[in-house]
Amino acid sequence: MHPEKEILPGLKIRPMVAGDLEELIVIERASFPNPWSCGQFESELKNPVSVALVARAPYEGGETLAGYIIYWTVHGEAHILNIAVNPLLRRKGVATFLLREAFARMRRNLVFEVFLEVRKSNAAARDLYRRFGFREAFERRNYYGDEDAIVMTLVF
Ligand SMILES: CC(C)(COP(=O)(O)OP(=O)(O)OC[C@H]1O[C@@H](n2cnc3c(N)ncnc32)[C@H](O)[C@@H]1OP(=O)(O)O)[C@@H](O)C(=O)NCCC(=O)NCCS
Repeated sequence: MHPEKEILPGLKIRPMVAGDLEELIVIERASFPNPWSCGQFESELKNPVSVALVARAPYEGGETLAGYIIYWTVHGEAHILNIAVNPLLRRKGVATFLLREAFARMRRNLVFEVFLEVRKSNAAARDLYRRFGFREAFERRNYYGDEDAIVMTLVF
């Protein structure tokens, strides 16, 4: 599964906590035309089916939030709701690292199928998911209000 991609050294992953949100919301707003609010992240932190993970990276002598992923697991299925990477750290394997870690956790929780929606125009994300073996299953018309979504699925 995308084994050849080199990953930024020193990345660490851990569950998201409320204290991450101040830093995280800056990445969210820089990443999406319709970003989630802080309240949406807070409700995911309380949602028992939700798994929220952050990756942190060494940066300029300290550490920074490199990216995050949120997914639900319900009865053997996982739904990826959100994934974004700090614009300063893109194309360094952060999303690949987050997805690898998420898939390892999903397998331990007996997930057999993963799905997600992606904007039709989001070539970067569609390419990322295809490299993990996702296939484009069908479209949801006007899913984002201003654009169609492509539903992508991966069977482990
Ligand atoms: C999509 C996104 C998460 C990718 O994160 P990333 O850490 O830069 O991705 P990686 O470095 O792990 O890239 C892995 C592969 O994905 C593909 N990819 C990533 N960014 C790409 C881009 N801008 N253009 C084309 N392909 C891209 C490539 O195949 C890449 O491998 P390569 O660098 O060896 O060519 C990041 O661009 C982002 O946060 N975008 C805004 C939020 C978003 O669109 N999220 C997805 C919603 S469905």
